Amino acid sequence: AEGLSDLLLSRVRDVPDHPKPGIVFKDITPLLADPEAFGALTEALAATARELGATKVVGLEARGFILGAPVALAAGAGFVPVRKAGKLPGATLSQSYDLEYGSAEIEIHAEDLADDDRVLIVDDVLATGGTAEAAIGLVRRTKATLVGLAVLMELGFLPGGERVRLALGEVPYQALVTV
Ligand code: PRP
Ligand code: MG
Repeated sequence: AEGLSDLLLSRVRDVPDHPKPGIVFKDITPLLADPEAFGALTEALAATARELGATKVVGLEARGFILGAPVALAAGAGFVPVRKAGKLPGATLSQSYDLEYGSAEIEIHAEDLADDDRVLIVDDVLATGGTAEAAIGLVRRTKATLVGLAVLMELGFLPGGERVRLALGEVPYQALVTV
């Protein structure tokens, strides 16, 4: 029988030289379009959320929204978006992080995470780990407890996995597929 990681991997499309020469882009849109694969992905991440006792799923704009929202509902948790700076209307916490060229900033509505909330961060791809590390920092500045980070795919040829493990310490990290 085809295992979960084989199924997921078979639905991720490699796009050479996107968005620039030398980069092989991991396109998850074929996976999203396949209800069997999208359902299996959602159920796997929801199982992680349940095991960790997560009460909130934090999804990272934009692809983390697509994965995180159904995971939250399937696990009986709420959904809280981490957005790129300037999009959230309420009081926000913000975190800057370095990109290859320049920097980026992400924000969260801290009031949507209470002191009894247990947070699982969800995103699609872990590359350098910069986005996830910034999100870890944001969640840790709220009143809630960070209980895990889960991604569909880690790019194993980059040091992002090691980077987020260092940032997480004892908090569990899961990549369903490593390529
Ligand atoms: C991609 C991907 C992850 C992040 C991983 O998002 O969806 O969020 O990059 O890279 P890193 O580990 O090096 O930080 P991107 O910012 O390209 O945009 P999108 O999710 O809005 O498509
Ligand atoms: Mg993203």
